[in-house]
Amino acid sequence: MESHERAVMRVLAGEKLERPPIWMMRQAGRYLPEYRAERAKAPNFLDFCYNTDLATEVTLQPIRRYGFDAAILFSDIFVVPDALGYPVNFEEGRGPVLEPLSIEQVEKLDQARTMEHLAPVIATVERLRAELPTETTLLGFCGAPWTVACYSVAGHTTQDQVAARIGSYKDPALLTAFIDQLVEASITYLVAQLDGGADALQIFDTWAGVLDDIGFEQWSVGPTRKIVDGVKAQRPNAKIIGFPKASAARLKRYVEGTGVDAVGLDWTVPAEVAQEIQKIVPVQGNMDPMRLVAGGRALETGIDHALEVLGNGPHIFNLGHGVVPQTPPEHVAEMVKRVKGL
Ligand code: CP3
Repeated sequence: MESHERAVMRVLAGEKLERPPIWMMRQAGRYLPEYRAERAKAPNFLDFCYNTDLATEVTLQPIRRYGFDAAILFSDIFVVPDALGYPVNFEEGRGPVLEPLSIEQVEKLDQARTMEHLAPVIATVERLRAELPTETTLLGFCGAPWTVACYSVAGHTTQDQVAARIGSYKDPALLTAFIDQLVEASITYLVAQLDGGADALQIFDTWAGVLDDIGFEQWSVGPTRKIVDGVKAQRPNAKIIGFPKASAARLKRYVEGTGVDAVGLDWTVPAEVAQEIQKIVPVQGNMDPMRLVAGGRALETGIDHALEVLGNGPHIFNLGHGVVPQTPPEHVAEMVKRVKGL
């Protein structure tokens, strides 16, 4: 079967399907007991990401269990700064911690070592394409430079990314220097994922929504455009989904400014905004992941609402952000059944 026949790829090409294909952000994760069992084999999270056997296995788990229409490569957005030589640490119970940004750190970054460092991730992509069912789309991804940089300016996750925003105003040259490095490495990495067998790509900009108008253009749209252009200059047929979280009012600007082929909607995007955007590009989303935790009527209502609002155009069913660890796995099975009309 040709890759353009995969349901997710058909939607990305602009087709409206009778039933939308479905996958879930963070579908390989701690809500699954079989994920936790594999995860226990590699105490360091980055080592886990770089272990081709383990990463392949956990990527396949949700496909086997639920038959999702797309698999997303198991990795993390921080493998890119790690590959460049930027100090990244995952602390138990605290999440990722990056060394605070400084010109000394940026000057030490080395593009030449990036792909050698990321070779195990590309090997995972190759293994996945060989092992996945032919009808399953394989998605590669990277973090948007602003979102990656947020964790380095602040050193860790902070509410509203106050430190990153102050840093962007006080020393835009430093942030630009770091982001330029991330852009270059991300282009190389995404092209390698495509060459390894990824069918399409997603760029996660989880923190786009904290920026003011000027910052949104400067730090989210601008660098994302460079990545999209850079990838497409080398692989003109590449399909790229952008996910600028909490940016409902700026989605049109984001889509037109970045050149992405489709856009992920978070759960706060209003129906009328989603439908306007869907006239320009295919959309992905956007049920609140907490409905999936709650289950029952709340889940059914959320699914039906998304299907109704987005059902008249090209739509890939997804959550408005990642599935959370406390989600009961049986709720996910119920969601897939209902979306598929079974
Ligand atoms: O979607 C998938 O299943 C693919 C894998 C994937 C992970 N992270 C695995 C992961 C993807 C696409 C990401 C993206 C990512 N990582 C983003 C952007 C999307 C988003 O969710 O906002 C961001 C901001 C990160 C950074 C990150 N990684 C944080 C803040 C954390 C800690 C919080 C948490 O959920 O634990 C991680 C760790 C991480 N990345 C886990 C997984 C499954 C959990 C780590 C573990 O198993 O111990």
